[in-house]
Amino acid sequence: MVPIPKIAPGNEFGPLLIKRGERVFVLTGAGVSAESGVPTFRDAGGLWEQHRVEDVATPEGFERAPELVWRFYSERRKKAATVQPNAAHLALARLGEQIGDDLFLCTQNVDALHERAGSRGVWHMHGRLLSTRCSECSRAPFDDESAYEKAPRCDCGALLRPDVVWFGEMPYGLSRIYQALEETDLFVTVGSSGAVYPAAGFVSHLRHLGRARCIYVGLEKPENAHAFDECRLGKAGDLVPSLFELANR
Ligand code: OAD
Repeated sequence: MVPIPKIAPGNEFGPLLIKRGERVFVLTGAGVSAESGVPTFRDAGGLWEQHRVEDVATPEGFERAPELVWRFYSERRKKAATVQPNAAHLALARLGEQIGDDLFLCTQNVDALHERAGSRGVWHMHGRLLSTRCSECSRAPFDDESAYEKAPRCDCGALLRPDVVWFGEMPYGLSRIYQALEETDLFVTVGSSGAVYPAAGFVSHLRHLGRARCIYVGLEKPENAHAFDECRLGKAGDLVPSLFELANR
């Protein structure tokens, strides 16, 4: 029988104990950056209410109108320079300092707020906003904070593109992610609607493996709530700072 997840306000739960040697996988989504002022995708006023996904977040959209795509990401780059990490980013950075390599921090977000809070080795499965790559050649992606009015070109003559993963493209580093999932004892998703795969399917994969506790933290019940043991409802900035407790370490 499939167990029913416990869904309740976050303050009704106790902290999550992490014992020595236990591996923690934290998956963050747009909700972790919401309190920093970065718009989410699917909430009211979110990015996908104001822009058509097909226009600004698909390879076909880029082929049709690269300037429009660059204007969208350039606006997001300008905005990124004005926001600060919040209490949830800082708490996750602190957890990384405490348990080191036992934490695998994977984000669907393209912002750099985890790094700016002090997290190391953040796995950006949907790429990075402040990075650019060539749409054709094998030149390595490079750090780039520029805002462009016109689509820039690579030395090879092809168009440069934002180094982000679009719909219809493969997220970065999936084999490393699945390896980390196999080793996970505690899986926590923070602020993701559970609508976009493969990330939304990590929790079902873990259910199937039958090894990890799976916890959701966010404002509302996500679409994949059934696969979690608990859904702790509330703001990331309120809940994440007191979420973890280290035991026997
Ligand atoms: P969504 O916008 O789909 O979901 C954001 C989630 O965060 C929602 O479930 C909100 O309830 C929750 N939320 C909002 N404010 C919060 C807060 N202060 N604290 C905690 N939770 C809060 O964003 P994602 O699930 O991250 O992909 O979206 C996944 C992917 O879809 C993105 O990476 C992007 C998008 O299309 C690509 O662009 C490939």
